[in-house]
Amino acid sequence: MVKVGIIGVGTVGSSVVNILQKNRDIIKARAGKEIVPVLGIVKNLDKTRDLDIKLSDNIDDVLEDESIDIVVELMGGVEAPLEVVKKALAKNKAVVTANKAMLAYHRYELQQYAKEIPIGFEASVAGGIPIIKALREGLSANHIESIKGIMNGTCNYMLTKMMKEGVAFDVILKEAQDLGYAEADPSFDIGGFDAAHKLLILASIAYGIDAKPEDILIEGIENINKEDIFFANEFGYSIKLLTIAKKTDDAVELRVHPALIDRNAMIAKVDGVMNGVSVVGDCVGETMYYGPGAGGDATASSVISDIIDIVRNGSNSPMLGFKNILENSVLKLKKADDIFTKYYIRIEVEDRIGVLSKISNILGDHDISINSFIQKQSSDTQNATLLFSTHQCFEKNIQNAIHDLGACDFIRKNPVMIRIEE
Ligand code: HSE
Repeated sequence: MVKVGIIGVGTVGSSVVNILQKNRDIIKARAGKEIVPVLGIVKNLDKTRDLDIKLSDNIDDVLEDESIDIVVELMGGVEAPLEVVKKALAKNKAVVTANKAMLAYHRYELQQYAKEIPIGFEASVAGGIPIIKALREGLSANHIESIKGIMNGTCNYMLTKMMKEGVAFDVILKEAQDLGYAEADPSFDIGGFDAAHKLLILASIAYGIDAKPEDILIEGIENINKEDIFFANEFGYSIKLLTIAKKTDDAVELRVHPALIDRNAMIAKVDGVMNGVSVVGDCVGETMYYGPGAGGDATASSVISDIIDIVRNGSNSPMLGFKNILENSVLKLKKADDIFTKYYIRIEVEDRIGVLSKISNILGDHDISINSFIQKQSSDTQNATLLFSTHQCFEKNIQNAIHDLGACDFIRKNPVMIRIEE
């Protein structure tokens, strides 16, 4: 019998306990041994929980228990869980974690620390989709050309409701929280950080690159408003929080931001809490993964798959997919300034003579060519919202143009830019 201790028995932890009990027969048959959740660690023992597992509020009760073989870390945070995971490894216990924030900062350190002791982290990226295994095992013969994903269920749920039902941002955020999709601090979701953590984990497996969140471009969905949704609907786009990893020669571009994408693209059909990841390999071509990206049972499905793997064979794969350093092909991170794509810009202005020509001059001065344009009158008639899309240009030029536009006396609010991805 294999004994499991679970540190953090919230939405996902409760599902892990319930599924290990409910599906114990199939899990035993697949793993070859019975797997039993024996102890859960919670912060508040007084809270009523409908769970059939012994609880404690002392993490050492798991770490010091010699009979516990596998520690499931679901406590959240970065530094505190890192210490807990290291202590578990030091006690020779295998670890399964869903903690993408910790891995975004400490994945290489943990890989080195763990040596041969398995660390499973399938649940850290895209919830119930087995994307880690797909990328690390299934696509290991390939040079990975790109990864494009919708990897935050909360944002995707919110954007879908905003686009399809016109629901307001705050109302829909509350709903995503009530459904158990959002992080404890939802600014991790809506600010793009959660998706960035996941992207960095995948980028390690794909490219062997040790980037941290502060090294890459991260923008959230906070500024998306009804005018942007109007523009997207009008021009055949969908708005998604997109995670992008792209390899070009000796560099990798890593970025997370809202993007306008063709409404008919496969990834644009990934709606609600679902996640979708497209991975292009040089041998296989494009592969696409789709499934629930958040929620207790879906995430627990991935956590338990790691537990079963560990019980079966101790997990033979190197944690981040590389046995050796990729000699002579160390990839650089591409600078955000060098991104080359199309853009949408929303500018709220005083509606007076000459404004449009000044704007087009500023864009022209920065080598930016306008592709389409809509003017929407405000109800007060003195102001107007101008919505532009551009042809391809460098990010640096757009940033400089937005800076110059922001300094004009006719500007009512700071211009907002959304990248258009094709
Ligand atoms: N808050 C995350 C999301 C949970 O919404 O995708 C899954 O990592």
